[in-house]
Amino acid sequence: MQRRRLRLRRDAGLTVFLGVALGLLLYVQHEGEAPTTSAPRARGKEARRPSLVTRAFQTPVSHAGPLAYEGDTPAPPTPTGPFDFGHYLRAKDQRRFPLLINQPHKCVGDGSPDLLIAVKSVVADFERRQAVRQTWGAEGRVQGALVRRVFLLGVPRGGGSDGAAPPAHWRALLRAESQAYADILLWAFEDTFFNLTLKEIHFLTWASAFCPNTRFVFKGDADVFVHVGNLLEFLALRDPAQDLLAGDVILQARPIRERDSKYYIPEGVYGLSVYPAYAGGGGFVLSGATLHRLAGACAQVELFPIDDVFLGMCLQRLQLTPEPHPAFRTFGIARPSAAPHLRTFDPCFYRELVVVHGLSAADIWLMWRLLQGPRGLACGHRRPAAPGPFQWAP
Ligand SMILES: *[C@@H]1O[C@H](CO)[C@@H](O)[C@H](O)[C@H]1NC(C)=O
Repeated sequence: MQRRRLRLRRDAGLTVFLGVALGLLLYVQHEGEAPTTSAPRARGKEARRPSLVTRAFQTPVSHAGPLAYEGDTPAPPTPTGPFDFGHYLRAKDQRRFPLLINQPHKCVGDGSPDLLIAVKSVVADFERRQAVRQTWGAEGRVQGALVRRVFLLGVPRGGGSDGAAPPAHWRALLRAESQAYADILLWAFEDTFFNLTLKEIHFLTWASAFCPNTRFVFKGDADVFVHVGNLLEFLALRDPAQDLLAGDVILQARPIRERDSKYYIPEGVYGLSVYPAYAGGGGFVLSGATLHRLAGACAQVELFPIDDVFLGMCLQRLQLTPEPHPAFRTFGIARPSAAPHLRTFDPCFYRELVVVHGLSAADIWLMWRLLQGPRGLACGHRRPAAPGPFQWAP
């Protein structure tokens, strides 16, 4: 312990350098306004998530100033025109799609995983899958716990025949990835923003069937950084046979009734004035017991086009409330632009978090190096997971 501390102190210089580098990286990205193929996260008023949100545990940093830092996530495509609710309502009885690529052996072999990590991804997001594989999503033993990983994918819109990703190309890519890493789950529905609910349902059913004895499941986006060590520490105190769903809990969110919003929900589709409590889809954790119960409950809840709200509805059906955890920041951290006084970047802040949302592949990798890399991180003292808003060090 003592020796480690000394070594860490020697590495402090390097850590400061990397910290500054990351700060610069984030800053430059902001200045360059990285192109984005739209993400299911808030950007500006138009894309704001369900309004008047109370976030348990934390001051509403994410919708006060600039909203979540979005990076360049190739997220599932969002329809450009207004969402066709009529079509959605007519089509929503069709909710079972075949599994095109399975990983039937994911959870057999060297024992059932303690933690199954499931990451929503789209075919085009190869780089982030690689970053996740090499960093926080690495399989194997972490602090003694067995960790396994899957990526959740649908078919690119139009079967990929729109030229962006020729069908033969993306099929070959996924087949090769599946052979190399055995972590691809591909279903036959179109991988669109409003089909994320289908992804949710199919994943729960899959995990319940093929990973029945996993102790816990983490489900999140590919653009998050997860501090798996902190997550496992939190889970070590919990019983997988008890109900648990913890994350960035959003209370009293109101459906958005403005037609031009990405999250517009007409009253005919959802008549109540608030959504049930739900955990932000960027990253949350659940117990094995809750996995099985949710798989059953969600199969009976009518499809709803916003996936994390939909999961809140399944929880409500089970009379479960999601548990707020202060270290899940699924709305991401405000960019440096939110802190014009930015001079240094404090990577120690991230050490106390479990999930940070909105990172590029490079950010994920660098964060990993800073926090988990062989050199570790020299922080003066261990702060508690602060419920307060993020502060860039003055
Ligand atoms: C969801 O996927 C199905 C099957 O591919 C497709 O017919 C439907 O249009 C998609 N729905 C949305 C809202 O994108």
